[in-house]
Amino acid sequence: MGGVIDRRSLLLGAAAAAPLLLGAAPAPAALAAPRARLLRDTVLDPTGLYEVTYSGLPNVASFQQDAILTRGAYQYAAWYAADRSATLARRAISGPGPWERVVLPHRLSAVDSHNTISLGVSRSDGRLHVVMDAHNTRAYYLRSAAGLIDGGVPWAVGSFSAVQRTLEGVELGGITYPQFVDTPDGGLQLSYRTGGSGGGVNELAEYTPAGWARLGAWTSAAGRYTAPNGRTSDSRNMYLHGIGYDARGRLHASFTWREDAAGGVVLCSPGGLSNHDTGYVHSDDRGRTWRTQDGAVAGVTGSASTGSGRRVAWTTPNHVVDPLDVNHALINQESQAVDSTGRIHILISYVPGRFTQCVTNFTAQRISFAYPFHLVRLATGWRKIELPERVAAFGRTRLVLAANDDAYAVLPDGRILAASAASTWTDWRRVYDGAAIDAFGECVVDASRLRSDGLLSVLSQEPSTGTTPSPVHVTDFRLGE
Ligand SMILES: *[C@@H]1O[C@H](CO)[C@@H](O)[C@H](O)[C@H]1NC(C)=O
Repeated sequence: MGGVIDRRSLLLGAAAAAPLLLGAAPAPAALAAPRARLLRDTVLDPTGLYEVTYSGLPNVASFQQDAILTRGAYQYAAWYAADRSATLARRAISGPGPWERVVLPHRLSAVDSHNTISLGVSRSDGRLHVVMDAHNTRAYYLRSAAGLIDGGVPWAVGSFSAVQRTLEGVELGGITYPQFVDTPDGGLQLSYRTGGSGGGVNELAEYTPAGWARLGAWTSAAGRYTAPNGRTSDSRNMYLHGIGYDARGRLHASFTWREDAAGGVVLCSPGGLSNHDTGYVHSDDRGRTWRTQDGAVAGVTGSASTGSGRRVAWTTPNHVVDPLDVNHALINQESQAVDSTGRIHILISYVPGRFTQCVTNFTAQRISFAYPFHLVRLATGWRKIELPERVAAFGRTRLVLAANDDAYAVLPDGRILAASAASTWTDWRRVYDGAAIDAFGECVVDASRLRSDGLLSVLSQEPSTGTTPSPVHVTDFRLGE
């Protein structure tokens, strides 16, 4: 656990907070409850790069999608080592064997915690793809030879392409938050932002047997937001909580909006954070056409942003699924998961109104008062439940679903809360106290392994001082026993 958290205040905070339960019956007591049992802790690197900027590290950030994933017989992880080398490791999922390391021919170009590494896999040709090191700059990209995932080529740096500034010749320009999404037909997409915070748009590129191609922008920064104080803002960007396909081939995207810097006027206090509202859209044609939950077209990827609002925008009708104004320190890029029946689940966190209606210091007040909330779209509509424990950190919580759709929330300090699908996710409670995890900032998890073999792997990096490197861990939990 991070040393700054006072356990007693945590418990008092939880006891003082009545869970908000809307439209759901209490869980029957007899149902089997989810559990998490610590299995093992492994050190990926005793000396991971430790350089704090924007309250984060270039390793282990909620938005990486993905820093750790499982495909075929292996689990893969990515991080920057102390000398800034982009580094991969894999281990067989069949047993607790060692991590085998591959050092890529690239060193982090800028001390900036946005510049994380994302891993993706194109199943159809068995390639591992790596994109990294971008913050409104051209990203660095490389990919393995075909067949790597299936064991057809050695796990060695020689099995990777040279590092490129394009996607095999496809120019993206300056980007931020590159995130891979594997498609149901074995291809791969890349989600990324062009433009800056407060005035950026989300775009998609797609990898098929024909190679990479840009699909274009699908969100718009335009439109007017009017805040509770009556002031307005005319530019923003969409921050994704997640983007991913369900088993039936629907692409889901959930998000919050952030008003631009000049839009600070929309806040009740300059110390706030100008994120607001939770939105949701989906696509049934691989990200070309986006629809709101009522089926109406919300946007067409690659279309002009102006004129008729033809990209997903703040002004798109009926996209908000949980309204919240700018004054509650809602965090961006938290978490999303889709269950086995295609239901969308979103994890968000903010300072509830019972503590204040006006956050004046978002860092301090998130640490003191922010709670996670689980949003799920049931047949009856969206339902929101406040989890029974504080976030107790500035950072974000990861939501993952087991194969039986039980939900697990990994909090920034390594606590794990869970709710059963059998209770329709109403029985949230702590299933792990975080004792074996000492994480700076936040943790990330391997959502794919959890679904394939019931093991929850949590990636974290220890806090340090100055720029002294610190250990990067993968901690495994056996769930549901
Ligand atoms: C917000 O609180 C933190 C302590 O958590 C403090 O370091 C910082 O100076 C505060 N910021 C402002 C603007 O008061």
